[in-house]
Amino acid sequence: MYTLTNVKAYYDSPRGPIKAVDDVSLEIRPNEILGIAGESGCGKSTLIKVIYGHINPPLRLVSGEIRAEMKDNGQVSVLSAKDLPKVWWEFISYVPQASMSVLNPVMRIENQFFDAVSRFHRAGNREQIRQQVADYLQELDLPVEVLKAYPHQLSGGMRQRVLVALATFLHPQIILADEPTTALDVVVQRGILRMLTRVQQTMGNTLIIVSHDMGVHYQITHRMAIMYAGQLVEVGPTERIFSAAQHPYTEMLIKSLPRIGDHSAREGISGRPPSLLDPPPGCPFAPRCPHAMDICTQARPPLVQIEDDHLSACFLHEEAMAAAHAQKVGAQS
Ligand SMILES: Nc1ncnc2c1ncn2[C@@H]1O[C@H](COP(=O)(O)OP(=O)(O)OP(=O)(O)O)[C@@H](O)[C@H]1O
Ligand SMILES: [Mg+2]
Repeated sequence: MYTLTNVKAYYDSPRGPIKAVDDVSLEIRPNEILGIAGESGCGKSTLIKVIYGHINPPLRLVSGEIRAEMKDNGQVSVLSAKDLPKVWWEFISYVPQASMSVLNPVMRIENQFFDAVSRFHRAGNREQIRQQVADYLQELDLPVEVLKAYPHQLSGGMRQRVLVALATFLHPQIILADEPTTALDVVVQRGILRMLTRVQQTMGNTLIIVSHDMGVHYQITHRMAIMYAGQLVEVGPTERIFSAAQHPYTEMLIKSLPRIGDHSAREGISGRPPSLLDPPPGCPFAPRCPHAMDICTQARPPLVQIEDDHLSACFLHEEAMAAAHAQKVGAQS
């Protein structure tokens, strides 16, 4: 339905390109909640921008293919990265982080809805839109009175709920949410996550959620992509990621998660991700990896299938070693 193939997207900078998305291949499926996890600065938000087709300087799509299939009235059209901005809201939409700056401070919520959706023919006239928005808010258990409010009159949690409503009003096939609950307290956070999962279940569409909180992923996602230094190092069903992590980086992320009833100190992740201006030649995690071997600093491990639907990029897997060897032999012949 939506695939990224060998996508590289770099930020141009005076010191050279910052390789924030560096050869990412990923399949995004209908009716799933896909989580993207990884430490700060590893490229999660940039990957979301790329999936959204929001690629403006200094960010540049260097190579690779983006292919989205949009279904509309039984018709399927194939879209590339440059087509995506034309189908924002309708096909793919974005839930930004709950900050004051996202909503226009001098506009009532009602008018923000008009602004966003009135250019779509199927939205109807002003009165029809008002009614549809009111009905939709009710469906989502939000008070209709918020429509008359200005953003500053709403709590952070309510503002975030409004953003979710706004982004999902036109029933897009893909909803992107980048840290939608960061900076909100735990109770509010839970409410927003419940709202997002409910919307996804009702619409049967795709929700992609970025969070550095592994607990959030455990609670709501079906599948996860683990990102490190601009690359995907592991992709698989959430249940397998937590019960049988394949990549040492994923293991470290999971070990750093607090557990109920366990009061022992959590193992933090020592060291820091490499610079994306000049990443090391081999596996980006090698400098921090307890299992690093010679080859890890020389060649980049390919993302290979380890078990059904479960991929990992690590030379500890025979499959990765064999694939790297085959590539080398291929290059020499
Ligand atoms: N507009 C920009 N111009 C130049 N470099 C940028 C820009 N935005 C992000 N970067 C760089 O790209 C890299 C990836 O950043 P990105 O924001 O995608 O990471 P992230 O995983 O979302 O981090 P966080 O968890 O902190 O949100 C970082 O090195 C960052 O400094
Ligand atoms: Mg981010």
